[in-house]
Amino acid sequence: MKRIGILTSGGDAPGMNAAIRAVTRHAIDKGLEVYGINYGYAGLVAGDIFPMTAKTVSDRISRGGTFLYSARYPEFAQVEGQLKGIEQLKKFGIEALVVIGGDGSYHGALRLTEHGFNAVGLPGTIDNDIPYTDFTIGFDTAVTTAVEAIDKIRDTASSHARTFVVEVMGRGAGDIALWAGVAGGVEQIVVPEHDFDIESIASKIKIAREKGKKHIIIVLAEGVMHADEFAEKLSEYGDFSVRSTVLGHIQRGGAPTARDRVLASKMGAYAVDLLLEGKGGIAVGMLENKLTYHNMLDLFDGKHNPDMSLFELNESMSR
Ligand code: ADP
Ligand code: F6P
Repeated sequence: MKRIGILTSGGDAPGMNAAIRAVTRHAIDKGLEVYGINYGYAGLVAGDIFPMTAKTVSDRISRGGTFLYSARYPEFAQVEGQLKGIEQLKKFGIEALVVIGGDGSYHGALRLTEHGFNAVGLPGTIDNDIPYTDFTIGFDTAVTTAVEAIDKIRDTASSHARTFVVEVMGRGAGDIALWAGVAGGVEQIVVPEHDFDIESIASKIKIAREKGKKHIIIVLAEGVMHADEFAEKLSEYGDFSVRSTVLGHIQRGGAPTARDRVLASKMGAYAVDLLLEGKGGIAVGMLENKLTYHNMLDLFDGKHNPDMSLFELNESMSR
């Protein structure tokens, strides 16, 4: 194998650039050539492909987003799109591919492997919702951003004795809420993975108020419901002076944390080693601080398990 390609796909995540850098530099170090593919599978099909050097990835490690851009391109689920992509790979002499993205992107990578092009996936998503890895690239940065926001919200919540519902991202997963909730010292975490009862949350707030607590912060995972809806339901049980804040896409941007940069660097280099061993249709993970890989088919059947001990921990610290 002489030449590999790399693309980023699906929602961007801080640390994707660090992963692209690691793949590029490690591959060059191993005597390979690297081609970048812009705009995920859309750029692959369109032939938006260019050669990269060690210099192309210079000054990228600290930047959020992805300098290869990303795209949602549902057409790639059709065989015609996949075959067009393969035509482009052949045209550019690319023999294998690294795909950085979430599980949707992994489906595209598996299709390519099934068509004879080895592709290895790296988990790049702030949601941390990929099975067989403890952490995904971008999660730590998103949590850090959410915690910074919660800290700021607490200042104003204390000044006005208000209750805040802070909605964080995560699609169907509660990981960002769990980590940001514990790190932000919030009064309540609400995630899709755990039942909740608004009336009980309301009485918890009343008790906290009676004890003299000024700020009440509820961190709500977006997969549960919208923050405004939650705030409205909560207001039915008392005048808590509730405000809601949706953190939204700020969680997807910004300089990646050191943890995300290191995770991305380790995973990126490992993906190149796996391609050199002739492997494809697999995704890289980090389990108990050890690099691992799993077949993508197993991964689609696997279940992501957030660390629910964080929920219990927060309950015990917020009563
Ligand atoms: P993520 O990778 O973050 O989960 P998406 O689910 O949007 O994000 O998937 C990213 C891209 O992966 C899609 O826009 C599409 O190009 C490709 N993709 C998703 N599902 C499939 C599939 N079943 N087959 C082939 N490609 C797919
Ligand atoms: O998967 C990452 C993510 O940011 C989710 O947390 C969120 O639900 C979704 O993407 C938002 O997608 P979009 O950027 O397309 O609005």
